[in-house]
Amino acid sequence: MKEAGRRAENAKEVREKHTGDSGWSEKTDPSGNFTYRDYATYQEYLDHQKVKFDEMIEAGKGFDPKSVGAMRTRFFRRFRSLPYHFENDAVILCAGARQGTEVEVLQDMGFSNAYGTDLNPGPENRWVRKGDFMKMDEEDSSVDLVFCNAIDHVLDIDLFLAEQTRVIRPGGYAMYEFIKNTKGGAFEAVEWESDGALLRKLLEYFEDVIIAEKEAHWRWILLKSPIKQDRAAEVRKVV
Ligand SMILES: C[S@@+](CC[C@H](N)C(=O)[O-])C[C@H]1O[C@@H](n2cnc3c(N)ncnc32)[C@H](O)[C@@H]1O
Repeated sequence: MKEAGRRAENAKEVREKHTGDSGWSEKTDPSGNFTYRDYATYQEYLDHQKVKFDEMIEAGKGFDPKSVGAMRTRFFRRFRSLPYHFENDAVILCAGARQGTEVEVLQDMGFSNAYGTDLNPGPENRWVRKGDFMKMDEEDSSVDLVFCNAIDHVLDIDLFLAEQTRVIRPGGYAMYEFIKNTKGGAFEAVEWESDGALLRKLLEYFEDVIIAEKEAHWRWILLKSPIKQDRAAEVRKVV
């Protein structure tokens, strides 16, 4: 079978295993508050996560102007306090940015060093490059702010947050956006017991909460000062 055919076959198998409610395991973190998808291998996690944008593009939803327009407005509301905290040359990484609307909004606001990474940035994406937020290419302490609204797509919450705090500079920031009481959709890789459980987890990795807000079913939080934890060996073992 040719390489492309093998990839398509593999993507089909992965999607059959992980459809909405199916494909979840009993695996939780030690607190019991986080439940994960049953990925047999790291590659299966990557294959499952990558296929979502392909399906959206196929369904004509990848860059639909109406939904992108609504996202632009939402992201502007999330970011409007950032000029109080950052100069225009701040390095801002949007992790799991897909088509990159959040990057586009940050650039429009004057943050010229904002960029995105995603497992699958789709074709010809000017805002987002390929990158895995479980194992980031960024140097230690090289980023002023990470924005991420894909926490529900992480393979392991602790290893994800350890990677985040590795790349954020001391005194730097992270902004996380999530949907209230997210529970296993077709592409989510983790679900949490309650939003309080997620907030308690985030506070294991950051000293300060600068802003915490809600808007309809959205929740978002701006955190400051990463608590560095050396978990490089564990991250490398998993990925
Ligand atoms: C809910 S979407 C968010 C997209 C974008 N931030 C937005 O709001 O339009 C989650 C994104 O996370 C990406 N993703 C999942 N696992 C990832 C990983 N390990 N590293 C980087 N991106 C990942 C998926 O490809 C998907 O594009």
